[in-house]
Amino acid sequence: MIEFRNVSKVYDTGTKAVKNASFLIEKGEFCFLVGTSGSGKSTLIKLILKEEEATSGNIIINGKDTTFLKPSRVPYLRRSMGVVFQDFRLLPDKTVYDNVAYAMYIVRATGRHIRRQVPMILSLVGLSQKAKMYPNELSGGEQQRVALARALVNNPSMLIADEPTRKSGSRYILGYNEFTK
Ligand SMILES: Nc1ncnc2c1ncn2[C@@H]1O[C@H](COP(=O)(O)OP(=O)(O)O)[C@@H](O)[C@H]1O
Ligand SMILES: [Mg+2]
Repeated sequence: MIEFRNVSKVYDTGTKAVKNASFLIEKGEFCFLVGTSGSGKSTLIKLILKEEEATSGNIIINGKDTTFLKPSRVPYLRRSMGVVFQDFRLLPDKTVYDNVAYAMYIVRATGRHIRRQVPMILSLVGLSQKAKMYPNELSGGEQQRVALARALVNNPSMLIADEPTRKSGSRYILGYNEFTK
């Protein structure tokens, strides 16, 4: 679950990106945040991930207030979340397979687990045939699906996608509930 209590974010430049946001997304809920460009959607996601600090208010993730979370605990917070970034953030010098495998490697998954899990998740997003390609050899929608595969590969309790309806990979993201039923 994700709860915001009176959360505001003012950047150092003075831009008020999020103003007094309060909401609760419960486990199992599928939720859309809609707003014009520059209205603060990506900032809100960065606050959830603790990539940015809220200027005021409280953010509670899975029952824990993350406001005073030690920096050393932030990686553990992020492990509970699968994130598809607006710009995908793929590693350009790694293949599709290795981009996904790397996400498992950094959480110390066993080689055996990685070799079993990565082909399964690539098949789920329809990219089995592209496993040996590099990100710059893929379409935007395909790159988004690699990002989705990477977001899902460690079985996170929540999936967060920034602008999921913009690229052709979107039907996989919007169909996520069906995949995991
Ligand atoms: N790192 C930053 N520093 C200063 N201002 C920022 C930064 N990131 C975003 N902003 C500003 O915050 C506002 C919200 O941006 P953003 O969250 O990216 O909106 P959206 O994702 O809805 O398009 C915009 O006015 C943007 O210019
Ligand atoms: Mg954005």
